[in-house]
Amino acid sequence: MIEPASDGLKAREAAFALIEGAFARRGGLDEALDTTLVGLEGRDRAFARNLAMATLRRWGQIQRMLSERLTSPPPEAVLALLKLGVAQILFTDVPDHAAVSTILDMAQSRPAARPFKGLINAVLRGIVRTPPVPREADLAPDWLLTRWKAAYGDPEALAMAAVIAQEPATDLSLLDAAEAEALAVALEAEILPGGTVRAGLRGDLAAWPGFEAGRWWVQDAAAAIPARLLATGPGQTALDLCAAPGGKTLQLAASGAIVTALDRSGSRLKRLRDNLARTNLAAEVIAEPAETWPDGRVFDAVLLDAPCSATGTFRRQPEVLWLARPAEIAKLAGVQARLLDAAARRVKPGGRLVYCVCSLEPEEGEAQAAGFLSRRLDFRRSPIAPAEASPAGRSLTPDGALRILPHHVEGGADGFYIVRFERTE
Ligand SMILES: C[S@@+](CC[C@H](N)C(=O)[O-])C[C@H]1O[C@@H](n2cnc3c(N)ncnc32)[C@H](O)[C@@H]1O
Repeated sequence: MIEPASDGLKAREAAFALIEGAFARRGGLDEALDTTLVGLEGRDRAFARNLAMATLRRWGQIQRMLSERLTSPPPEAVLALLKLGVAQILFTDVPDHAAVSTILDMAQSRPAARPFKGLINAVLRGIVRTPPVPREADLAPDWLLTRWKAAYGDPEALAMAAVIAQEPATDLSLLDAAEAEALAVALEAEILPGGTVRAGLRGDLAAWPGFEAGRWWVQDAAAAIPARLLATGPGQTALDLCAAPGGKTLQLAASGAIVTALDRSGSRLKRLRDNLARTNLAAEVIAEPAETWPDGRVFDAVLLDAPCSATGTFRRQPEVLWLARPAEIAKLAGVQARLLDAAARRVKPGGRLVYCVCSLEPEEGEAQAAGFLSRRLDFRRSPIAPAEASPAGRSLTPDGALRILPHHVEGGADGFYIVRFERTE
């Protein structure tokens, strides 16, 4: 781990703020990364980010360890400092004395935590003296692990939970596949089957070769599969119905298709427009809810990357696991069914529809596909061939969909459910 500049207090305060931001609301970590790190120097930024991510990845294990050492729960402010302290001691190479003394400094500056400095000191020193052994089963919340075991069996559920602790590489999709070899050298990257470039570089992406010139964008290897399955090309029309921030829109536009990108969120569409401008790609951009978009056009290819619990994205935003709630999954399943019906209305006879979610929950994946086929008898499955499934060939289901679990791709990938339909003529 990169050492912070100066006494490291500023960087640790930034890590604390990043964690608070991550839990403040869905997607809060991304926003917090944009705002909290402004003004910090490079080494402090890297340290703050790494420490926040280590804490979030090990959240469940840290909670368990603390609950075993505390007789009664201390105030929130104290617990939050203890978590940051334990993460440093057990999951980073920060020297123990630096971890403990900086957490005590942070407690001193917080009125709610100041009276608990003795407790904080005792607990952290106890962890240093007799470090607890982290249990893999504590990486995910119990209720989610139980669900995953029921859906995929114990070995698969435990294997995917183990990925929570691993730091993911940065995956890139390229504007022009012909540049893969050259970019792979410049980015110290590996080219995965399917074309994703997995970068070995770390740090500020904007300084990496090809960013400024818009030759690539960040996109997880699994997230790059759905748009490829539409196999669009020049002259074809494509609709991306939940498009922002736009990774899949860029893929469709790069294929030469005439693309319409719709999303209900104007602020997220701003990021999509920035991405289009940087890569010099074109799409018609529309800010509307998909269900009520007053436009009668139909398209050769429609992509629905629906809003979901996002439990499959835990490698980059581990807090999703701790923010998810069973009732929210049920509510999102209703939204997804309505959006699938809206997407179906936009598909030309003979056209194709890809539905995907970055969720590991069957209600948002398999159940949506089955429900849709029972409502729309003019659609049928268009099974995904093994050659189209790279790098997630292992995730093909008997009915030709992809149920990608994060450990299915070597080095990890986001969890996804992806299915393709075709509308009969
Ligand atoms: C999973 S994200 C899409 C990610 C995007 N496809 C990409 O690859 O970058 C889901 C998106 O659905 C949008 N959304 C949610 N409800 C919607 C609705 N009713 N109509 C249109 N967009 C919606 C959200 O604003 C969000 O941007």
